[in-house]
Amino acid sequence: MSVRVLALVGSLRAGSHNRQLAEAAVKHAPEGVEVVIYEGLGEVPFYNEDIDVEGAVPAAAAALREAAGQADAFLLFSPEYNGTLTAVLKNAIDWLSRPYGAGAFTGKPAAVVGTAYGQFGGVWAQDEARKALGVAGATVLAEAKLSIPGSVVRFAELHPQDDAEVAEQLPAVVAQLAEATAVAA
Ligand SMILES: Cc1cc2nc3c(=O)[nH]c(=O)nc-3n(C[C@H](O)[C@H](O)[C@H](O)COP(=O)(O)O)c2cc1C
Repeated sequence: MSVRVLALVGSLRAGSHNRQLAEAAVKHAPEGVEVVIYEGLGEVPFYNEDIDVEGAVPAAAAALREAAGQADAFLLFSPEYNGTLTAVLKNAIDWLSRPYGAGAFTGKPAAVVGTAYGQFGGVWAQDEARKALGVAGATVLAEAKLSIPGSVVRFAELHPQDDAEVAEQLPAVVAQLAEATAVAA
């Protein structure tokens, strides 16, 4: 049975380079690993304890929790907005962090990669995402990382799946996640 890695992409725009990076992870997934991009983060309402009520959770948030529950590991694709992670990604983390102590991240491996326009490739945002994931209960693979700078220029003509560095380094991150699921099992 293959390891199922759920990819959460922190940008909603159609031409998102982080989305394309996630597509590269799907394409270059090592044997025995299935990377699935979660569709629908844009429909998930802002987290609000008043609507996080058992039996009445909004459908989009319930669907996210369901998909996360079926995942063995998580790979977050984080751009950087104003020096930190995007609201879309943080909102997903918040929904998956509850019920407290029993959210879908609990005890499962997670890693964060991403690309941004700046010269550091969004490292601030990705570090913040790791911090939030850890607090939310995931086993964060701090060393499994990839931050690609200059997204707008680098991927203007080139899809990340055809980028040699991505094709080499991204599957290594996915492989580390898969190995970590074996340890956690
Ligand atoms: C609101 C906003 C804030 C941004 N802030 C940063 C930033 O702090 N650091 C950075 O490297 N790029 C920043 N950028 C540029 C993004 O890195 C760039 O638009 C990137 O391509 C977004 O990811 P995407 O292609 O997946 O949508 C910002 C872009 C927007 C729209």
